[in-house]
Amino acid sequence: MSQAKQDPETTRAEHLRQLLHHHAHRYYVLDAPELPDAEYDRLFQELQAIEAEHPELRTPDSPTQRVIGQVLAGFLPVRHAVPMLSIRTETDTTAAGATAFDERVRRELELGADAPPLEYNAELKFDGLAINLRYEAGVLVQAATRGDGETGEDVTQNIRTIGQIPLRLSGDAPPLLEVRGEVYMRRDAFERMNDRQREKGDKTFVNPRNAAAGAVRQLDPAMAARRPLSFYAYGLGAVAGWERPATHSKTLDALQSFGLPVCADRAVALGAAGLVDFHRAMGDKRDALPFDIDGVVYKVNRVELQKRLGFVTREPRWAVAHKYPAQEQMTRLNGIDIPVGRTGKLTPVAKLAPVFVGGTTVSNATLHNVFELRRKGVRVGDTVIVRRAGDVIPEVVGRVPGPRTAYVPNFRMPRQCPVCGSAVLREQGGIDHRCTGGLFCAAQRKQALLHFAGRRAMDVEGLGDKLVDQLVDGGLIRSLPELYTLDVAKLSGLDRMADKSAANLVAGLAKSKQTTLARFLYALGIRHVGETTAKDLARHFGGIDRLLAASVEQLLQVDDVGPVVAQSVHTFFQQPHNREVVDQLRAAGISWAESDGKADTAPQPLAGQTFVLTGTLPTLSRDEAKDLIEAAGGKVSGSVSKKTHYVLAGAEAGSKLDKARELGITLLDEDGLRALLHAAGA
Ligand code: IVH
Repeated sequence: MSQAKQDPETTRAEHLRQLLHHHAHRYYVLDAPELPDAEYDRLFQELQAIEAEHPELRTPDSPTQRVIGQVLAGFLPVRHAVPMLSIRTETDTTAAGATAFDERVRRELELGADAPPLEYNAELKFDGLAINLRYEAGVLVQAATRGDGETGEDVTQNIRTIGQIPLRLSGDAPPLLEVRGEVYMRRDAFERMNDRQREKGDKTFVNPRNAAAGAVRQLDPAMAARRPLSFYAYGLGAVAGWERPATHSKTLDALQSFGLPVCADRAVALGAAGLVDFHRAMGDKRDALPFDIDGVVYKVNRVELQKRLGFVTREPRWAVAHKYPAQEQMTRLNGIDIPVGRTGKLTPVAKLAPVFVGGTTVSNATLHNVFELRRKGVRVGDTVIVRRAGDVIPEVVGRVPGPRTAYVPNFRMPRQCPVCGSAVLREQGGIDHRCTGGLFCAAQRKQALLHFAGRRAMDVEGLGDKLVDQLVDGGLIRSLPELYTLDVAKLSGLDRMADKSAANLVAGLAKSKQTTLARFLYALGIRHVGETTAKDLARHFGGIDRLLAASVEQLLQVDDVGPVVAQSVHTFFQQPHNREVVDQLRAAGISWAESDGKADTAPQPLAGQTFVLTGTLPTLSRDEAKDLIEAAGGKVSGSVSKKTHYVLAGAEAGSKLDKARELGITLLDEDGLRALLHAAGA
């Protein structure tokens, strides 16, 4: 460091860094702060401002470069000022569960049959882990897990990484306020996290609750921060200097006014009938919620009555959890199938003894790939846990521990395709096994045909999977173009193919010939070319011949086409047999209007705008809305991110709507979309 006279900024930055280091250590590591949060924040911001002005003063060890605390050796114990209780669980998932609770409470309070119905606060039972947040003078000073109810663990630095938890309360916060609530992980965050784990070949998490609990108890807060957690407040711990509201519902209102997240799905319910209604309404809504719940919680609303009711051992008499049917169940793994997909991918699929879970009977569940299957350690004959929550596809999450009664060899991917016998290969470093048979493989041919004929592709009416099975297995079709050689005479020989359906399919084939270049390209099933990319390619090149002749460099000129897609398209059209397929299909009469490409496309008033659709619109189907947006040059994407411009939301919109609100993205309803298209002149 230069010993020469330093300029004032350099001196100040150095001083600030030292101060902040000292206080961050006191705060994060020793948990013994000497400064109020606000003062720390002020110093922090002052340093940030200096560094923004003079980037050369920004050192790698500046606290601005490391907002997250240090890795801990372990968690310190925290004795709860007020014990954290558990709650009695009503396992009868029918309405009787609610009625039983109401009857018990009325008996304890010695209320006669003619006394008016009691008031309850009904809320959701979040499936995460309980946390006590301690605010002194409005500042979050400590966060602790429940532990054994008397003593928990200090997880303050991890909890501080949860953006939803205010580090400072707003409004007229009392001198001491302990807030109790649930830290949980949203289902979409959980799925994304597991997808990432899977891509890396790492272990996946069993369910959002385990993932959340693991994140809160992560010793490395940087790791904790990478697992997106959420929080809902549902009660109080120790409180001083505050006259708490007379009811639980008003208490939740107050917590909300302090800036704490309180779930909007709550209600003041009257008597057993009110509880039953709430249980049913939330049961109906359960799948559409963005997070897991395993039941609802009823609490006697008046605090004075809660006090009269008191506790039995560790459970209050004034509250109960009323469960829903489980989203995880045990069943037997009867076998492992290995279907072959359109791109040749072999996916191990669990064949299960049918089990009712998450509202449906499940008898198949994906095992994703051989590596994940091995990590889960499941073998045929095992008792496994199956999870199905929300609209997420059912999954085998693991095996129930215990000895096996018989030796079962570990699962192996076959070296030959179970359908066509071609070699099965795995790309270097990849996790998927693929059949190399291409369209020689009947399974791939069937999937390719179904994809080709699909509604968003060539839209061939009258060609379902049963018929495709017959056509392929009967040797009537070996390639896509042969589809167009079918006539009533050839078809009438097939099972169940009455003359009328044969005529329908032949008409459907004829009708499909007039199409668009985008649909045609999508229908070919080129790897990495989805509908949107097909549209981009069609718009850019305008005609098939220019596309066939395009180099990788030219393909890279297309909006949103990166190296992987460009290479895939190029490789596809370099294959003589693929060119032959294109020629034969055109010879069969498939045609579309061509243009000169980019130069003369129709006006694109929504160009560059990204939309996400969620829920059910009053008159437009999802596909119709998508077509309208795309015709005006807009893009439709599947998930909401900071790059989304509009979210088009209909009835029963789910987590995408919440995410849009969170990110402040413009929301549209169907009329709003029409108005936007109209204003844009589309
Ligand atoms: S109240 C005195 N309300 O359920 C009552 N608990 O055993 C204390 N939980 O792990 C609990 N949602 O974290 C309450 N709305 C809710 C809840 C809730 C989830 C959890 C809680 C604890 C368990 C209760």
